[in-house]
Amino acid sequence: MKLKSSILALCMAISGFSALAAGQYVRISTDATDLILKVADDNRLYQSYLGPRLLHQDEIDALPQLGFTTYDGRKQPRGWEVYSGSGNEDYFEPAVAITHADGNASTYLYYVDSSSESVEGGTHTRIVLRDDKYPVEVVLHYVAYQRENVIKTWSEISHSEKKPVTLSAYASTMLYFNCPAYYLTEFSGDWATEVRMTSQQLQFGKKVIDTKLGSRASMHTPPFFEVGLGQPVSEHQGEVLMGTIGWTGNFRFTFEVDNGGYLRVIPAINPYASQYKLKPGEVFATPEFVFTISNCGTGQGSRNIHNWAMNYSLKDGHGSRLSLLNNWENTHFDFNQESLAGLMKEAKDLGVDMFLLDDGWFANKYPRKDDRAGLGDWDVTHSKLPGGIPALVDAAKEAGVMFGIWIEPEMVNPKSELFEKHPDWVIMLPNRETYYFRNQLVLDMSNPKVQDYVYGVVERIMAENPDVAFFKWDCNSPITNIYSPYLKDNQGQLYIDHVRGIYNVLRRVKENYPNLPMMLCSGGGARCDYEALKYFTEFWCSDNTDPVERIFIQWGFSQFFPAKAMCAHVTSWNRNTSVKFRTDVASTCKLGFDISLADLSADELEYCRQAVKNWKRLNPCILDGQQYRLVSPYESNHMAVNYVDATQSKAVLFAFDIHPRYAERLLPVRLQGLDPNKLYRIEEINLMPGGKPTLKSNGKVYSGDYLMKVGLDVFTTSATTSRVVELTAQ
Ligand code: DGJ
Repeated sequence: MKLKSSILALCMAISGFSALAAGQYVRISTDATDLILKVADDNRLYQSYLGPRLLHQDEIDALPQLGFTTYDGRKQPRGWEVYSGSGNEDYFEPAVAITHADGNASTYLYYVDSSSESVEGGTHTRIVLRDDKYPVEVVLHYVAYQRENVIKTWSEISHSEKKPVTLSAYASTMLYFNCPAYYLTEFSGDWATEVRMTSQQLQFGKKVIDTKLGSRASMHTPPFFEVGLGQPVSEHQGEVLMGTIGWTGNFRFTFEVDNGGYLRVIPAINPYASQYKLKPGEVFATPEFVFTISNCGTGQGSRNIHNWAMNYSLKDGHGSRLSLLNNWENTHFDFNQESLAGLMKEAKDLGVDMFLLDDGWFANKYPRKDDRAGLGDWDVTHSKLPGGIPALVDAAKEAGVMFGIWIEPEMVNPKSELFEKHPDWVIMLPNRETYYFRNQLVLDMSNPKVQDYVYGVVERIMAENPDVAFFKWDCNSPITNIYSPYLKDNQGQLYIDHVRGIYNVLRRVKENYPNLPMMLCSGGGARCDYEALKYFTEFWCSDNTDPVERIFIQWGFSQFFPAKAMCAHVTSWNRNTSVKFRTDVASTCKLGFDISLADLSADELEYCRQAVKNWKRLNPCILDGQQYRLVSPYESNHMAVNYVDATQSKAVLFAFDIHPRYAERLLPVRLQGLDPNKLYRIEEINLMPGGKPTLKSNGKVYSGDYLMKVGLDVFTTSATTSRVVELTAQ
């Protein structure tokens, strides 16, 4: 017997598996954070610690089961169970709720075994939990990225009961905190008002942030949040949890402060209208939840997530990005082959890499001349573009730029041939009046035939035009009229299977066109999550391109996304601001233009040309370097941000005066991320033709130490002015 168990232990050790005894723990660590999960006497798994990395082994061994004991020393019947099931002795929000085939709604999960292996950039830990009364298993996954200080976690639920079980909650994970107070920073908005940041203290009870929009899922709230642990969230100091869920559909974040003052954070797919019938043998994989804990505020936390995204998650995270001229704001649906050829020449003249053709190029029986018809019919409108896409690709070649194209393949206008042929491919109630959002309906992506059709939209364009260099993939409607003709009496799966269907399509696109850059767009920024961004190189932050609004929108998105992933275009929104101001704001992200060059003066056009050149030259800082948000538009009348390249030999500082007060006291801006011992030459760039630098320090040389401690006087008291400063190590 003894021999048998030692052989078993040896085999498990060799295979990387270990079955831990009570009191033993699983340690999930990055260079800066420890998550320690302990097996308790009852053989269940509890979070023992989550916070800054611990240094001493003996103290880790002796960690208590937090949550078992209340503030006055009384024993509680529960701990911080890592993946708490409904119907057990924990009276707060569970991670998983299962109604078994016999109607019993309780789940008790016991530790079975765990293993870990090295993966790119980190360590993947896998923990198996099992119910002792029902054949239900949950596998918890954690990938700890050491250097970036990011942990990615998800769960898999399965069973071998005789009949399906019903899942009514299925969290990605559950995290607990024990702090004097918790402050949530949430992001909310709508079309053109994306990611407005507000903060509040979390008190006893639950705060839920969720979406029920289905496809255009993040229209009212994006899938990320920040929690100040002990103090309100702040940019440069304090402990903060920053988390984001990779799910391009309904999600739900639950923050619950319990009777002991502990906080539990539960990121999950929103179970709204989604009682999921899980078949025996089927594995329900939750979305990935990605988080970091920073001890020096959101600035460091954002850089952790940016670095993780570029290294391991974002499509072509280390690749370059194409600057572009888009035609949407300029022409809307009103264009033809000649006018587009003219715009391609303008793109070349501007110095950008690509011309991007937007909405309005397709459909014949019901041509797409406005947003009321044509969606779904992806043949070029012959009367409008007689030479088809090949002629456009040729015209772009002739002009000397690349060609990209807009699609919205998951949607259909009822006025379309697709709808006439396949009304059963559409999410639509059979017995109620139909409700339309932007005159369109959502295709039923749970249906494999629809998936093939949607994939075929890309495939057909690429087969005919292998030189198409870019796709903008739009999604302008939430799911309305919630009924899937395909799923029939299994409607509880609709919201989930719909998103899985989208991923099936995107996976095929990526497999077959691995080097094709794509922009994720959803009527502005209503799709922005890291699962979708495995398939997209970038996303459109907002249709609101007023540079003042954009300063706030980009500030919000930059909390979780690197500049490389965030598309920002110079347009005619807010003509009261200068072209320089508009271009400088867009230059802090992935720069593009969506404006008629004919509307620009000769000086403005020349300014834009120079700005494009500078932006391209400074891409090692802006797109591939580290970002430091310096002055918040939420806390001042200005904004400043600087970027530093990998060798700390080049940096660029952007400073914006938004609406300064009369005779306001102007503070110097202290840079970050420079080498204190290097000397940097200061040069004001992006000047209007013939303009002279107004920066007093222009041409001077300062140490990184000075620049980070004393700073530069870059702000002014003139509304909507901007300065771009290049710093070059000597
Ligand atoms: C919404 C997008 O956000 C816009 O940029 C544009 O592509 C329109 N859709 C086209 O319909």
